[in-house]
Amino acid sequence: MKNSNLLKKEVGNEIKSAKDLRELDQIFNKYLGKKGEITLILKGLKDTPKEERAKVGKEANLFKNFIEKEIKGKKENIRFAGAVAEDAGWIDITIPGRKPFIGHLHPLTQTKRKFEEIFQSMGFSVIEGPEIENEFYNFEALNIPVHHPARSTFCLSLCRTFYLKGGNLLRSHTSPVQIRYMEKHHPPLRIIVPGRIFRNEATDAKHEFNFYHIEGLMVDKSVSIANFKAILQEFLNKFFQKTIKMRLRPTYFPFTEPSFEVDIECVICGGKGCSTCLGSGWIEMMGAGMVHPNVFKNVGLNPKDWQGFAFGMGMDRFAMMKYKINDIRFFYAGDLRFLRQF
Ligand code: PHE
Repeated sequence: MKNSNLLKKEVGNEIKSAKDLRELDQIFNKYLGKKGEITLILKGLKDTPKEERAKVGKEANLFKNFIEKEIKGKKENIRFAGAVAEDAGWIDITIPGRKPFIGHLHPLTQTKRKFEEIFQSMGFSVIEGPEIENEFYNFEALNIPVHHPARSTFCLSLCRTFYLKGGNLLRSHTSPVQIRYMEKHHPPLRIIVPGRIFRNEATDAKHEFNFYHIEGLMVDKSVSIANFKAILQEFLNKFFQKTIKMRLRPTYFPFTEPSFEVDIECVICGGKGCSTCLGSGWIEMMGAGMVHPNVFKNVGLNPKDWQGFAFGMGMDRFAMMKYKINDIRFFYAGDLRFLRQF
């Protein structure tokens, strides 16, 4: 018998390099089959001289165990590799496919983009401003006096401390961007400012403390209310994709003079009267007016040289009218059953 360690190494390598079960069987037969080398040694023990018998028998048995163990291990490897290869190469084309989940834009974002598209087609630029404002831009520069009720808003620091200009707050409208823009850009100008605003409101179906406005501002040498009406009518017709009746009612804003509320015929009932318009057939959609001379002065423009109109409208309300949604809170609830409808 060969040196047993050398033999173990040889057989071990043979087993390792076997490619399939058939090759393994061959190796098994070579050593442990009926006429296998080890079998023959074990069979021949009876003829082996007595003094060597125990030693040879022991070694042959150890060798037999070694081969059996190695072959068993290798068989498992081959079976496992086979199963993996089988899995990888086999596709069940009868299983229904998994539909990838694709999201889409929020209805308010869709509405905002529609606003932008329509106003851009009329030469307006889309401008943004900060959500954290200060008293100067949110109130003072817009001619809103210290005692005005609109000053009750979400203050972050030092607000309403008489004539302190530095108080920070969450902006209650997008009008401060009129000031910020005119400080840096000389007229003629046409801008819209979509953005998030915050108000001290108790929430219900029509009110949220956080919602979206679109500000509009057009300034030139001679801009009149007639221009405002024409632009607004064009916007309304395009937005609702039908001719919309509107009316202006006089009102008061500190930063416009004259000022008006703009009502449109209720889109839900077509003006007949319903629960949304509280039976009146009209819905108030925005505040507007001609830029107040003090606002021009506050940004260093001479009110004798310039005229303009400004407006501010609730984007949520427009989206509610367009999509016939009866509760503003749906926009912010993150409920996919609602959102998937758009
Ligand atoms: N800022 C006003 C509001 O929040 C709307 C408005 C804007 C009115 C511009 C007139 C001119 O209600």
